[in-house]
Amino acid sequence: MLAMNYRGPYRVRADQKPEPRIEHPNDAIVRVTRACICGSDLHLYHGLVPDTRVGTTFGHEFTGVVEEVGPSVQNLQPGDRVLVPFNVFCGSCYFCSKELYGNCHETNPQATAVGGIYGYSHTAGGYDGGQAEYVRVPLADVGPTVIPTDMDLDDAVMLTDAFPTGYQAAEMGQIREGDTVVVFGAGPVGLFAAKSAWLLGAGRVIVVDHVEYRLEFARRFAQCETLDFRTVRDMAEHIKKMTDGLGADVCIDAVGCEAAGSALHSLTGVKLKLQGGAAIVLHWCINSVRKGGVVSIVGVYGPTFNAIPIGNAVNKGLTLRMNQASVKRHLPRLIEHIQAGRVKPSEVITHHIPLHEVSDAYHIFSSKLDQCIKPVLVPPRVRLN
Ligand SMILES: NC(=O)c1ccc[n+]([C@@H]2O[C@H](COP(=O)([O-])OP(=O)(O)OC[C@H]3O[C@@H](n4cnc5c(N)ncnc54)[C@H](O)[C@@H]3O)[C@@H](O)[C@H]2O)c1
Ligand SMILES: [Zn+2]
Ligand SMILES: [Zn+2]
Repeated sequence: MLAMNYRGPYRVRADQKPEPRIEHPNDAIVRVTRACICGSDLHLYHGLVPDTRVGTTFGHEFTGVVEEVGPSVQNLQPGDRVLVPFNVFCGSCYFCSKELYGNCHETNPQATAVGGIYGYSHTAGGYDGGQAEYVRVPLADVGPTVIPTDMDLDDAVMLTDAFPTGYQAAEMGQIREGDTVVVFGAGPVGLFAAKSAWLLGAGRVIVVDHVEYRLEFARRFAQCETLDFRTVRDMAEHIKKMTDGLGADVCIDAVGCEAAGSALHSLTGVKLKLQGGAAIVLHWCINSVRKGGVVSIVGVYGPTFNAIPIGNAVNKGLTLRMNQASVKRHLPRLIEHIQAGRVKPSEVITHHIPLHEVSDAYHIFSSKLDQCIKPVLVPPRVRLN
């Protein structure tokens, strides 16, 4: 089959690989119909995630059609159209029983923090991902969700990560009616966080980035105010000025370890790897939120420490919330929002790119060419509508 194949930092290509097979009675084999590239994949592509092995296939955001199921699978049948949450999770361990599917204790023997994630290196369990014609889906009775018959594949694939992650970012912000919410990052996750902030009662939403076409898109898609951080000398001062001197009620980090905006953080966090990524957005969040406010972090950081102003967070009495998203927990509510027409998540998809052009797709998304916001890979012989 055709599959994305990681060859090393900044080098990916489409190659022939053996088709996956059922390895466990609760596995399914899914024929992929859509597979997004995510900002998280860029951290892999840029060589920032430990134990990313040459020869592996990325892709944790995919939809497909069930091709084959193992003998113990009861909830799926061949022919079902499914969306598959990015978390690989068991559904029954201590953490899953608390709906912390992103922290499943059974699916990632390499780490005690994050659970399994499709196509996200051996630090997230070593599962091959969905940027391929076929993918093995373990725990098939637990993860995959049958796509409602009236839902577009492009909307469905956004439910595998970007929309639920943005939604969880807003939910962890504990937004109260009328709150001012600042979202750092106008990528897909930040855009959905902004949109979700309104759904959860925000009175004002400000999205910060430095890529003009993304800020322009944010204004249209999320009806928010925007701020280009290149025009700001002191972020905390600036946000305070915008909020009657108090600071934002909620700050959301939807950027993570590759944040631009501080030469010092880029040097120590990205180039020299002395921190688990550039922590400038964490500084901006902690310093720009009001006393007693909430900082919600969904941007991804490495496992080592980061230099952050924890003293300010303590002295201001902040609530810090963060996690990998637990996608499945949000699906019923988000499907409702889509069906009611309140959100059309596929609007953020700017590119459909054939899987055999995966190398170009990563380059376009990584370099922010051609006004790219969210690229979707389409395997051969899959129709676009
Ligand atoms: N926690 C989770 O479950 C989860 C799930 C999906 C993605 N993520 C993470 O969320 C982050 C965003 O994902 P995405 O797909 O939207 O990525 P993306 O790369 O498309 O978007 C990131 C945006 O941040 C902007 N940016 C860079 N530095 C900034 C700064 N200092 N201030 C404000 N904006 C800045 C970039 O210009 C870009 O537009 C990534 O770190 C990704 O790994 C986390
Ligand atoms: Zn993702
Ligand atoms: Zn579990």
